[in-house]
Amino acid sequence: MKIVAVADYEEMSKVAAAYIVSTIRSSSSFSLGLATGGTPLGVYQQLIKNYQTQQTSYAHVQTFNLDEYVGLSPQDDESYHAYMNHHLFQAINIPPEQTHVPNGMAVNLEEECVRYENHLQERGGVDLQLLGIGQNGHIGFNEPGTSFASRTHVVKLTPSTLAANARYFPPSKKQPTHALTMGIATILQSKEIILLASGEKKQQAMNQLLNGHMSESVPATALRMHGAVTIVADRKALQLA
Ligand code: GLP
Repeated sequence: MKIVAVADYEEMSKVAAAYIVSTIRSSSSFSLGLATGGTPLGVYQQLIKNYQTQQTSYAHVQTFNLDEYVGLSPQDDESYHAYMNHHLFQAINIPPEQTHVPNGMAVNLEEECVRYENHLQERGGVDLQLLGIGQNGHIGFNEPGTSFASRTHVVKLTPSTLAANARYFPPSKKQPTHALTMGIATILQSKEIILLASGEKKQQAMNQLLNGHMSESVPATALRMHGAVTIVADRKALQLA
Protein backbone atom coordinates (compact mmCIF):
# COMPACT_ATOMS: atom_id res chain seq x y z
CA MET A 1 0.00 0.00 0.00
CA LYS A 2 1.27 3.43 -0.89
CA ILE A 3 0.91 6.04 1.86
CA VAL A 4 0.63 9.72 1.03
CA ALA A 5 0.96 11.59 4.32
CA VAL A 6 -0.51 15.08 4.18
CA ALA A 7 -0.75 17.94 6.66
CA ASP A 8 -4.48 18.22 7.10
CA TYR A 9 -8.00 17.64 5.80
CA GLU A 10 -7.72 20.33 3.14
CA GLU A 11 -4.54 18.90 1.66
CA MET A 12 -5.99 15.37 1.78
CA SER A 13 -9.04 16.58 -0.18
CA LYS A 14 -6.98 18.45 -2.77
CA VAL A 15 -4.51 15.60 -3.36
CA ALA A 16 -7.25 12.98 -3.77
CA ALA A 17 -9.41 15.20 -5.99
CA ALA A 18 -6.47 16.09 -8.25
CA TYR A 19 -5.75 12.41 -8.77
CA ILE A 20 -9.40 11.58 -9.50
CA VAL A 21 -9.63 14.42 -12.03
CA SER A 22 -6.44 13.38 -13.81
CA THR A 23 -7.56 9.75 -14.16
CA ILE A 24 -11.02 10.77 -15.37
CA ARG A 25 -9.52 13.16 -17.92
CA SER A 26 -7.12 10.57 -19.28
CA SER A 27 -9.77 7.93 -19.90
CA SER A 28 -12.52 7.60 -22.50
CA SER A 29 -14.77 5.43 -20.32
CA PHE A 30 -14.51 5.45 -16.55
CA SER A 31 -16.21 3.83 -13.58
CA LEU A 32 -15.79 5.74 -10.31
CA GLY A 33 -16.65 4.16 -6.95
CA LEU A 34 -17.91 6.68 -4.39
CA ALA A 35 -18.10 6.85 -0.61
CA THR A 36 -20.15 8.93 1.81
CA GLY A 37 -19.65 10.21 5.37
CA GLY A 38 -17.87 13.36 6.43
CA THR A 39 -14.44 12.45 5.08
CA PRO A 40 -15.00 12.68 1.28
CA LEU A 41 -16.98 15.96 1.44
CA GLY A 42 -13.83 18.03 0.85
CA VAL A 43 -12.91 15.89 -2.17
CA TYR A 44 -16.38 16.43 -3.64
CA GLN A 45 -16.06 20.20 -3.08
CA GLN A 46 -12.76 20.11 -4.97
CA LEU A 47 -14.30 18.08 -7.82
CA ILE A 48 -17.08 20.66 -8.08
CA LYS A 49 -14.60 23.53 -8.07
CA ASN A 50 -12.60 21.79 -10.79
CA TYR A 51 -15.77 21.20 -12.83
CA GLN A 52 -16.66 24.88 -12.60
CA THR A 53 -13.20 26.18 -13.49
CA GLN A 54 -11.79 23.51 -15.82
CA GLN A 55 -15.01 22.09 -17.30
CA THR A 56 -13.92 18.49 -16.64
CA SER A 57 -16.49 16.34 -18.40
CA TYR A 58 -18.32 13.50 -16.66
CA ALA A 59 -20.06 12.44 -19.87
CA HIS A 60 -18.00 9.23 -20.01
CA VAL A 61 -18.19 8.47 -16.27
CA GLN A 62 -20.42 6.00 -14.43
CA THR A 63 -20.50 6.18 -10.63
CA PHE A 64 -21.20 3.34 -8.18
CA ASN A 65 -21.79 4.10 -4.52
CA LEU A 66 -20.60 1.74 -1.83
CA ASP A 67 -23.71 1.62 0.30
CA GLU A 68 -27.16 2.88 1.30
CA TYR A 69 -29.37 2.76 4.40
CA VAL A 70 -32.29 0.34 4.43
CA GLY A 71 -35.62 2.18 4.53
CA LEU A 72 -34.43 5.54 3.22
CA SER A 73 -35.31 6.77 -0.27
CA PRO A 74 -33.47 9.38 -2.38
CA GLN A 75 -36.10 11.85 -1.10
CA ASP A 76 -34.91 11.36 2.49
CA ASP A 77 -32.26 13.96 3.28
CA GLU A 78 -30.27 11.45 5.35
CA SER A 79 -30.08 8.84 2.58
CA TYR A 80 -26.76 8.39 0.86
CA HIS A 81 -28.53 8.93 -2.45
CA ALA A 82 -29.63 12.41 -1.31
CA TYR A 83 -26.12 13.06 0.05
CA MET A 84 -24.63 12.30 -3.38
CA ASN A 85 -27.21 14.41 -5.24
CA HIS A 86 -26.66 17.28 -2.89
CA HIS A 87 -22.86 17.15 -2.48
CA LEU A 88 -21.76 16.11 -5.97
CA PHE A 89 -24.08 14.82 -8.68
CA GLN A 90 -26.17 17.93 -9.31
CA ALA A 91 -23.18 20.28 -9.26
CA ILE A 92 -21.17 18.29 -11.82
CA ASN A 93 -24.18 17.77 -14.06
CA ILE A 94 -23.87 14.01 -14.26
CA PRO A 95 -27.07 12.43 -15.67
CA PRO A 96 -28.93 10.29 -13.09
CA GLU A 97 -28.74 7.24 -15.38
CA GLN A 98 -24.94 7.32 -15.03
CA THR A 99 -25.10 7.21 -11.22
CA HIS A 100 -25.77 4.04 -9.28
CA VAL A 101 -26.67 3.72 -5.60
CA PRO A 102 -28.13 0.58 -3.97
CA ASN A 103 -31.90 0.87 -3.45
CA GLY A 104 -32.56 0.85 0.29
CA MET A 105 -36.32 0.83 -0.36
CA ALA A 106 -36.34 -2.42 -2.37
CA VAL A 107 -39.13 -4.80 -1.33
CA ASN A 108 -36.72 -7.72 -1.56
CA LEU A 109 -33.37 -6.54 -0.22
CA GLU A 110 -31.50 -9.77 -1.04
CA GLU A 111 -32.61 -9.47 -4.66
CA GLU A 112 -31.53 -5.84 -4.72
CA CYS A 113 -28.04 -6.85 -3.54
CA VAL A 114 -27.74 -9.40 -6.36
CA ARG A 115 -29.07 -6.87 -8.88
CA TYR A 116 -26.58 -4.19 -7.76
CA GLU A 117 -23.63 -6.58 -7.75
CA ASN A 118 -24.55 -7.95 -11.23
CA HIS A 119 -25.07 -4.47 -12.61
CA LEU A 120 -21.62 -3.45 -11.40
CA GLN A 121 -20.01 -6.56 -12.92
CA GLU A 122 -21.86 -6.12 -16.24
CA ARG A 123 -20.49 -2.60 -16.45
CA GLY A 124 -16.96 -3.95 -16.04
CA GLY A 125 -16.47 -3.18 -12.33
CA VAL A 126 -15.04 -0.10 -10.67
CA ASP A 127 -11.89 1.52 -12.09
CA LEU A 128 -11.15 3.75 -9.11
CA GLN A 129 -12.82 3.32 -5.71
CA LEU A 130 -12.81 6.10 -3.13
CA LEU A 131 -13.03 4.82 0.46
CA GLY A 132 -13.32 6.26 3.94
CA ILE A 133 -12.71 4.19 7.06
CA GLY A 134 -14.95 3.68 10.08
CA GLN A 135 -13.59 4.10 13.59
CA ASN A 136 -13.90 0.33 14.03
CA GLY A 137 -12.04 -0.32 10.76
CA HIS A 138 -15.10 -0.80 8.57
CA ILE A 139 -15.07 0.01 4.85
CA GLY A 140 -18.34 0.69 3.07
CA PHE A 141 -20.66 -0.75 5.73
CA ASN A 142 -18.68 -3.96 6.09
CA GLU A 143 -18.60 -4.29 9.85
CA PRO A 144 -15.99 -6.28 11.84
CA GLY A 145 -16.47 -10.00 11.20
CA THR A 146 -17.57 -9.60 7.56
CA SER A 147 -16.12 -12.27 5.27
CA PHE A 148 -13.36 -11.09 2.95
CA ALA A 149 -15.22 -13.12 0.26
CA SER A 150 -18.43 -11.09 0.69
CA ARG A 151 -20.32 -9.52 -2.21
CA THR A 152 -23.04 -6.84 -1.99
CA HIS A 153 -25.16 -7.77 1.03
CA VAL A 154 -27.49 -6.56 3.79
CA VAL A 155 -25.83 -5.65 7.08
CA LYS A 156 -26.98 -4.97 10.62
CA LEU A 157 -25.05 -1.92 11.80
CA THR A 158 -23.00 -2.23 14.99
CA PRO A 159 -23.61 0.03 18.01
CA SER A 160 -20.21 1.69 17.32
CA THR A 161 -21.20 2.62 13.75
CA LEU A 162 -24.68 3.74 14.81
CA ALA A 163 -23.13 5.99 17.45
CA ALA A 164 -20.52 7.39 15.03
CA ASN A 165 -23.18 8.22 12.42
CA ALA A 166 -25.91 9.44 14.82
CA ARG A 167 -24.75 13.04 14.23
CA TYR A 168 -26.13 12.94 10.68
CA PHE A 169 -29.72 12.28 11.89
CA PRO A 170 -31.98 14.97 13.40
CA PRO A 171 -33.68 13.90 16.67
CA SER A 172 -37.03 13.62 14.84
CA LYS A 173 -35.66 11.01 12.42
CA LYS A 174 -35.25 7.33 13.30
CA GLN A 175 -31.74 6.16 12.44
CA PRO A 176 -31.78 3.06 10.23
CA THR A 177 -30.33 -0.06 11.83
CA HIS A 178 -29.52 -1.85 8.55
CA ALA A 179 -27.81 -1.01 5.28
CA LEU A 180 -26.89 -2.47 1.90
CA THR A 181 -23.19 -2.45 1.09
CA MET A 182 -20.77 -3.65 -1.53
CA GLY A 183 -18.89 -6.58 -0.01
CA ILE A 184 -15.18 -6.78 0.71
CA ALA A 185 -14.57 -8.94 -2.38
CA THR A 186 -16.56 -6.42 -4.46
CA ILE A 187 -14.37 -3.58 -3.20
CA LEU A 188 -11.16 -5.58 -3.75
CA GLN A 189 -12.16 -6.13 -7.37
CA SER A 190 -11.76 -2.39 -8.08
CA LYS A 191 -8.73 -1.80 -10.26
CA GLU A 192 -7.46 0.92 -7.98
CA ILE A 193 -8.43 2.20 -4.51
CA ILE A 194 -7.87 5.49 -2.66
CA LEU A 195 -8.55 5.39 1.08
CA LEU A 196 -8.95 8.71 2.88
CA ALA A 197 -8.45 9.27 6.60
CA SER A 198 -8.40 12.46 8.61
CA GLY A 199 -8.35 13.32 12.28
CA GLU A 200 -7.70 11.73 15.66
CA LYS A 201 -10.81 9.58 15.60
CA LYS A 202 -9.24 7.48 12.84
CA GLN A 203 -5.93 6.83 14.64
CA GLN A 204 -6.79 3.38 16.01
CA ALA A 205 -8.27 2.18 12.74
CA MET A 206 -5.28 3.44 10.75
CA ASN A 207 -2.84 1.83 13.17
CA GLN A 208 -4.63 -1.50 12.76
CA LEU A 209 -4.79 -1.13 9.00
CA LEU A 210 -1.06 -0.42 8.73
CA ASN A 211 0.41 -2.44 11.61
CA GLY A 212 -2.15 -4.94 12.92
CA HIS A 213 -2.81 -8.51 11.79
CA MET A 214 -4.79 -9.01 8.61
CA SER A 215 -8.09 -10.18 10.03
CA GLU A 216 -11.81 -10.10 9.28
CA SER A 217 -12.23 -8.41 12.67
CA VAL A 218 -10.72 -5.29 11.05
CA PRO A 219 -12.33 -5.18 7.57
CA ALA A 220 -9.96 -2.56 6.17
CA THR A 221 -6.98 -4.93 6.57
CA ALA A 222 -8.33 -6.81 3.52
CA LEU A 223 -6.94 -3.92 1.46
CA ARG A 224 -3.46 -5.37 1.99
CA MET A 225 -4.39 -8.10 -0.50
CA HIS A 226 -4.89 -5.46 -3.20
CA GLY A 227 -1.97 -4.36 -5.34
CA ALA A 228 -3.02 -0.78 -6.03
CA VAL A 229 -4.17 0.96 -2.84
CA THR A 230 -3.15 4.52 -2.04
CA ILE A 231 -3.84 5.86 1.44
CA VAL A 232 -4.14 9.63 1.64
CA ALA A 233 -4.14 10.49 5.33
CA ASP A 234 -3.33 13.47 7.49
CA ARG A 235 -0.86 13.67 10.37
CA LYS A 236 -3.51 13.26 13.06
CA ALA A 237 -4.91 10.10 11.50
CA LEU A 238 -1.41 8.63 11.13
CA GLN A 239 -0.14 9.59 14.58
CA LEU A 240 -0.21 6.07 16.04
CA ALA A 241 0.84 4.32 12.85
C1 GLP B 1 -20.08 5.36 7.12
C2 GLP B 1 -19.90 4.99 5.66
C3 GLP B 1 -18.46 4.70 5.33
C4 GLP B 1 -17.58 5.81 5.87
C5 GLP B 1 -17.71 5.86 7.37
C6 GLP B 1 -16.83 6.93 8.01
O1 GLP B 1 -20.18 4.26 7.93
N1 GLP B 1 -20.72 3.87 5.29
O2 GLP B 1 -18.32 4.56 3.93
O3 GLP B 1 -16.24 5.56 5.51
O4 GLP B 1 -19.07 6.18 7.65
O5 GLP B 1 -17.50 8.14 8.03
P1 GLP B 1 -16.83 9.56 8.33
O6 GLP B 1 -16.07 9.88 7.11
O7 GLP B 1 -18.00 10.46 8.56
O8 GLP B 1 -15.98 9.37 9.52
